Amino acid sequence: MEMKLAFVGMGNVARAFARMLCERQDDLARDHGFRFRTTAISTNSHGSILSTDRIDLIEAAGRMERGESLVGLAGCEAVTDTFSLIERCDADILFETSPLNPVDGEPAASYIRRALERRINVITANKGPVAFRYRELKRVARERGVSFRFEGTVMDGAPVFNMVETCLPAARVLGFEGILNSTTNIILTGMEEGRSFEECLLAAQRAGIAEANADYDIDGWDAAMKAVALANVLMDAEIDPRGIEPKGIRAVSSDDIRAAAQRGGVIRLVARGDRVSDEIIISVAPEEVMKDSPLGSVRGSSNLLKIKTDLMGEIAVLETDPGVRQTAYALLSDMLTVFN
Ligand SMILES: NC(=O)c1ccc[n+]([C@@H]2O[C@H](COP(=O)([O-])OP(=O)(O)OC[C@H]3O[C@@H](n4cnc5c(N)ncnc54)[C@H](OP(=O)(O)O)[C@@H]3O)[C@@H](O)[C@H]2O)c1
Repeated sequence: MEMKLAFVGMGNVARAFARMLCERQDDLARDHGFRFRTTAISTNSHGSILSTDRIDLIEAAGRMERGESLVGLAGCEAVTDTFSLIERCDADILFETSPLNPVDGEPAASYIRRALERRINVITANKGPVAFRYRELKRVARERGVSFRFEGTVMDGAPVFNMVETCLPAARVLGFEGILNSTTNIILTGMEEGRSFEECLLAAQRAGIAEANADYDIDGWDAAMKAVALANVLMDAEIDPRGIEPKGIRAVSSDDIRAAAQRGGVIRLVARGDRVSDEIIISVAPEEVMKDSPLGSVRGSSNLLKIKTDLMGEIAVLETDPGVRQTAYALLSDMLTVFN
């Protein structure tokens, strides 16, 4: 069966996904019976386009990379804005990869809701809508008989939500701890090696790993949104991200890192979620941990998540040196889950 695909956002992640899809299209058709054509792409400043036939995805990605508008691409009609595109597109799956908004998850949350209401399956890598509106979006998806999937929101392509959903039936998640933000880990581990904060941040930005607004990484908002998403999805919490006060790494100095090293420690930005009596408490803050501990051993863009469960004890997922291709893979794996 041929699936019609729509894209909201054609940035680092969506372009990596577009290339992965096209690179693997023969395997996807042969091994999964999955065939696709792209019918809609929306961006913020590069135009939004619809097609009743098919959009050349690689040409669209190339245009974005060259800073050119999508408007004028062969066989496409220009649309004024993303909401109009969602209203009019003929799509089976919409990939939402617009930037994180840690204030309210908008406009992505409303894009997703409208697509689900139109019975379009939605896959997102954007943690904002999951942190702010998970229950509502899940309910709308259920009512309309479509899927809402978001594996890429917390640990790129490493299975977290899918692992708990499919591999840990009946187990209760009691808590978690982890290093969930690649940009701050690149900065902290780079500073251990004598590089400057700014130099390391630039490296994360050049790799396409940093948020469009890197302050959201540095000040702990990205990690906080991931922690809320984990708690609300895996622990059935109802945490309002507006009540979280993350502490980022802005105040961590080279002197702090040297002092920690003298004690055999390193500084890491650690996200935690714990059930305390009936309440679930979320925290994000820099912590000094032993250099050879699991958290202390995580370097560069790598991430680690430890999940505590009642029936299966503790499980850790380590993702080594992820880049945008790993997030692209999350979209691909969610896409096949929706398709199957
Ligand atoms: N990069 C990673 O490694 C990574 C990993 C995990 C999750 N994520 C998440 O994935 C999402 C995308 O990341 P990215 O690195 O691909 O971001 P990006 O490179 O900044 O791309 C964002 C895309 O969204 C478009 N856009 C911006 N505002 C929009 C709006 N209001 N409506 C419609 N489209 C809009 C942009 O259009 P213009 O180009 O025209 O501005 C751009 O095409 C983010 O939510 C991020 O948190 C990223």
